[in-house]
Parts: sequence; C-alpha cells; structure tokens
Amino acid sequence: MSLKKDFLWGGAVAAHQLEGAYNVAGKGVSIMDVSTGGTKDTPRRITNGIVEGEYYPNHEAIDFYHHYKEDIAMFAEMGFKCFRTSIAWTRIYPTGLEEEPNEEGLKFYDDMFDECLKHGIKPVITLSHFEMPYHLVEVYGGWRDRKLIDLFVKFAKTCFERYKDKVEYWMTFNEINNQANYNSEGSIYGDSGIIYTPEDHREQVMYQASHYELVASAKAIEIGHQINPNFKIGCMIAMCPIYPYSCAPEDILMAHKAMEKRYYYTDVHVFGKYPPNITKLWERKGFDMDVTKEDLEVLKKGCVDYIGFSYYMSFAIKQKAENIYYDYDESHDLVRNPHVEASDWGWQVDPVGLRYALNWFTDHYHKPLFIVENGLGAYDKVEENGEIHDHYRIDYLRKHIEQMKKAVDEDGVDLMGYTPWGCIDLVAASTGQMSKRYGFIYVDKQDDGTGSFDRSRKDSFYWYQKVIKTNGEDL
Ligand code: BG6
Repeated sequence: MSLKKDFLWGGAVAAHQLEGAYNVAGKGVSIMDVSTGGTKDTPRRITNGIVEGEYYPNHEAIDFYHHYKEDIAMFAEMGFKCFRTSIAWTRIYPTGLEEEPNEEGLKFYDDMFDECLKHGIKPVITLSHFEMPYHLVEVYGGWRDRKLIDLFVKFAKTCFERYKDKVEYWMTFNEINNQANYNSEGSIYGDSGIIYTPEDHREQVMYQASHYELVASAKAIEIGHQINPNFKIGCMIAMCPIYPYSCAPEDILMAHKAMEKRYYYTDVHVFGKYPPNITKLWERKGFDMDVTKEDLEVLKKGCVDYIGFSYYMSFAIKQKAENIYYDYDESHDLVRNPHVEASDWGWQVDPVGLRYALNWFTDHYHKPLFIVENGLGAYDKVEENGEIHDHYRIDYLRKHIEQMKKAVDEDGVDLMGYTPWGCIDLVAASTGQMSKRYGFIYVDKQDDGTGSFDRSRKDSFYWYQKVIKTNGEDL
C-alpha cells in the first residue's frame, strides 16, 4: 500500500465555474461575470460591465447553487474524502468594499459545507479563484492598488472565522503564478483583475500585482493560524515544468531561468522572502517596485503549510541567441515538445512530467504536496442509451496516478491528496466552453446555454470509484 491511509482523494472545482446564480442572494458581479464565452481559437472577451445581448456562461454555469445536494451525494457515491471548491468573494462582499459581510452568502457555504461533512467529505477551500469583485477592477484597477491587500485580508478573515470548525484545508490564491506569463491578457485578468492599457509596462505591472498578492496571502495565513492553529493553509501554483528543448548548455540554462521566473512565487510562499534572481531582475530592468520593509516582515510571518498545485501539461523551451539575459516571455518563448502528445486544445499531455514536478517541488521546498488539479479537457459523446464511454479520460488519469504513486513509493514524496479538476462538468476557465469537459459526472449543459442540467455518470465515474475504494491500488 503506497499512499497514506488518510490520503485525500476527491475532486476540484471553483465557485464561478459551477455555481451559477450569479446575482442571487445578494451576490455581486465578479470578474468572470463580465467574461463572454469563447472557443479554442476565439478568446473570451471582457465587457464593460454586464452588457445586454452578450452571453456569459458563468452566470448560470451548471447551477450547482441549486443542485449542490444531489451533486455532493454523487461525490460521496464515488467515495470522495474531500471536495475542493472556492468561496466566491462576491457572495460574501459583493463589491469588496462593504464593512459587513453578506449573511445570505455566508449561509450558502455553511449549508454546502454541512452537506459535505454529512457525507464525510472534507471541504478544501480556495479563497481567490479568478473571481474577485468586478467593482474593484472599476475603482482600483484590480491588484494594481495596494488597497486590495486589506480588502482581501478582510474577506479571508471573515471566512476563517465563520468556517473555522468546518474547514481545515485552505489555499489563498489559485494559480497565482499564471500571470508570470505577463503578455497574456487572460492570465493577469484572472489572477489580478488587471486590464492592460497601452502605456503599461506589462512585466512590471505583473510583478507589482503579484507582490501585493503575496503580501495579502502572507497576512491572511498569519491571521488564519491565529484563528485556528490546526488550519493547514497552502499556496496554489500552476505547475508546468519547463524542459530544455535540447542538451545544449544554453537550452539547459534557459529552462532553468524560465523555471525561476515561473516559480519564484513558491519561494516567497514557502521561505517568506524573494529569491535573489528576482530582485536582481527588478534592479537590472529598473523596475520601481513598491515593496516596503513592512511588507518584507509580513512575508516572513505568513509561510504556507503545504504546496497545492495544478498539473496538466509540461512546456519546452529553446534559448535564442539574442536573449542575452535569459529573460522569459512565456507567450513567445515556448516550443512544441516532439516527445509528447497534445490534447484537442493543444495542452501537452505528459504523465512523467507529474512525477518530475513532484520531485522538483520536494527537492526545492521539502514541504508536503497536494495535487489539487489534474485532468483532461475533452469532447464527450453521449450514446443513444445515455452512456458516456470516456476511456481517454480514464487513460489520462490512470497514467498520471501511476506516476504520482512512483513519486511516493520510489522517490519519497510527501503527498497529501489528489483532486482531479472538474470532477463534475463545468465552464472551462480559459475558453468559457461547456464542451471542454473534465467531469466524472456529465452535465447536460451546452456551449450555447441550452440543456436540461441533468446529471449522469460517465464510465470514469465507476473507474474513479474503484480507484478510491482501493486507495489507488486498482487502476
Ligand atoms: C486551471 C484553473 O488553470 O485549469 C481552473 O485553476 C481551470 O480554473 C483549469 O478550469 C482547466 O482549464 P480550462 O481552461 O480547461 O478550464
């Protein structure tokens, strides 16, 4: 038996991608409520507030808000030990600026967590999963402004106090490092609610917003540990290992320098300070960063208990002769890895990369790890008899779990749990599609918003049930 007895098998989602009910019970407009549907080739658009005639897939999503009891019962049927979701900031503080939280919003999560606990499922909660109040974008330009630190901490404190006896596992910012890809407008919008202007120096704006979030995260962690010393509070990092394209020394160094820039967030979360390669980069580029002495003290006091991370794919990179400082611009510098296949959305499928990632994190940080997202977005076909034979999804997950077990068995990685992404079909974050499905549970909701919202079990549902039952022995 390789995995711990109390290994946290479960599934992961985020409030904005499944709850729907976007304006119910006092909820405010979040940044994803003004994001239209898109496709693999047509990016989602951010509208100026909610515009009549536009289609916003997150408004209704799969209406988990009204279906959570039946959905959680199905998670329990699969044997989930935990359920990762987020608390929509806008249900608690609709604009982010209120002095008092919205009781109806708090009550929804009370009821939902009670439902989980009734089934022996532990909630694993992300505080900020691409869903900050849109109002804060309008008045402050999102995380461009230092004021966001206290507003986030207020929200975090409210959640910690309210759910201190119901939730033990927390994470502060989902995939905080997506924005390391500073030329991607979608990444910085999701992470920080920032809409670039033509005058922006994008890289500097990104480092500044990230700094405020890291300070906010540390402050929240310190407060959380005071509220309940048993809390386990982690960070959440999007892990895509960056491989050198070849064994040319320049490619090796390039991959290393790229990893530094994508993963320095973990250093700050774990060690409470910036690695020298980042502060040197700021100096070299002449970035005028607002980083105070007090901030640096705060960072030291709010270190994480574990590293939560998502893993979907790996990247590869080649050094370009003109890039003399080995700078990293993710939108332009990555190359296709000829050794791995890609999904229908071009994500490079690489199970061994998961073992690599687990080893890399362990070697660098010596912390417990939690795989809080992994999965395959794919088109599913419903047969005439209603069955869904998603062998491609089973195959993907099986291969990743095999590598995860090797990392534990052979490499000694300290692994807390595994929560595959989108355990129930939901709205894809990058494209806004329903047709990019991850679930063990199929939801009859389509890209154009039609559908009955009926739930049904895919083949992977029964497979995952067996995996959990045997603690990962029978794959
Ligand atoms: C991660 C996010 O980036 O990947 C999730 O934390 C997201 O919110 C998931 O849904 C899969 O991406 P997508 O775009 O296929 O939904």
